[in-house]
Amino acid sequence: MRISTVTEKAYAKLNISLDVTARRPDGYHDMRMVMQTVSLCDDISVTLRSDSSVSVGTNLHYLPRDDRNIAVKAAKAFFAKAGMTNHGADIGIVKRIPVCAGMGGGSSDGAAVLRALNSLTGNPLTLRELEDLGGSLGSDIPFCIAGGTALAEGRGEILTQLPQIPDCFFVIAKPRFSVSTPELFSRLDLCSIKYHPDTQGIINSLKSRDLKGICLRLYNVFENVLPAKPDDIPSIKNTLLDFGALGALMTGTGSAVFGIFDSEDKAIAARSYLALQYSDVFLAKPQNRLEI
Ligand code: C5P
Repeated sequence: MRISTVTEKAYAKLNISLDVTARRPDGYHDMRMVMQTVSLCDDISVTLRSDSSVSVGTNLHYLPRDDRNIAVKAAKAFFAKAGMTNHGADIGIVKRIPVCAGMGGGSSDGAAVLRALNSLTGNPLTLRELEDLGGSLGSDIPFCIAGGTALAEGRGEILTQLPQIPDCFFVIAKPRFSVSTPELFSRLDLCSIKYHPDTQGIINSLKSRDLKGICLRLYNVFENVLPAKPDDIPSIKNTLLDFGALGALMTGTGSAVFGIFDSEDKAIAARSYLALQYSDVFLAKPQNRLEI
């Protein structure tokens, strides 16, 4: 029996900075990242069922629809945690965020399913409980629950809310190749990382609302460990800078690259030019933290 439906926007994230500080005994790595939610989003609809099946439908035919889909995992984990094991859900996903791009698309879908189910079932879980549950499913999910601008440490689950980034425009382009996150982590030799982002400088710039100070400090340690150094990453960065971006960076483990602009006209011109070469090109704005 169908009961009711909630729709949620699952926003993409960009890494303003990404640092890896240690390899952990559990096989993961300790991170220090300034994360930013942006307006590019997937649409998630969740309809509660009174039987225990979980289904997913999506406009991307190659996405798995079984337990390999993070949205299905999130729904099952939610019902288990909330003690509602005889409940299920029908999930619809309209995907716009490119997959395997370092933009947290899958994590954001999982987070949106957790938010939707919590609201459909009378909010049995607190924000902290949703973040903890998300962390058991994927390292970026805790940030994606409420989003905004935050420092993420530990595996990604230790979150400190930061001042919202000053108003700006993001132009994002994803090259045709994708990067495997576990492979990139395995290529990382912590001893050979020469430079680390000035994370505190970014935090200070956020506090003083200094967009140029933030953009001068964009840095991602993964840019130097990409397999075979694909030319698209520096090429997209140079194009964005040529069009007037204040800074440009690869996000997460790639392969999407973004530029930050203080002028909408310049951002539109950069997007139009990059769209001649790449099919996944987007213009987005900063997205505020969600109230949960
Ligand atoms: O947690 P998630 O499933 O997103 O992680 C994917 C992979 O990325 C992990 O299996 C691990 O290889 C790597 N990872 C890591 N340290 C992190 C996050 C991810 O080593 N903090």
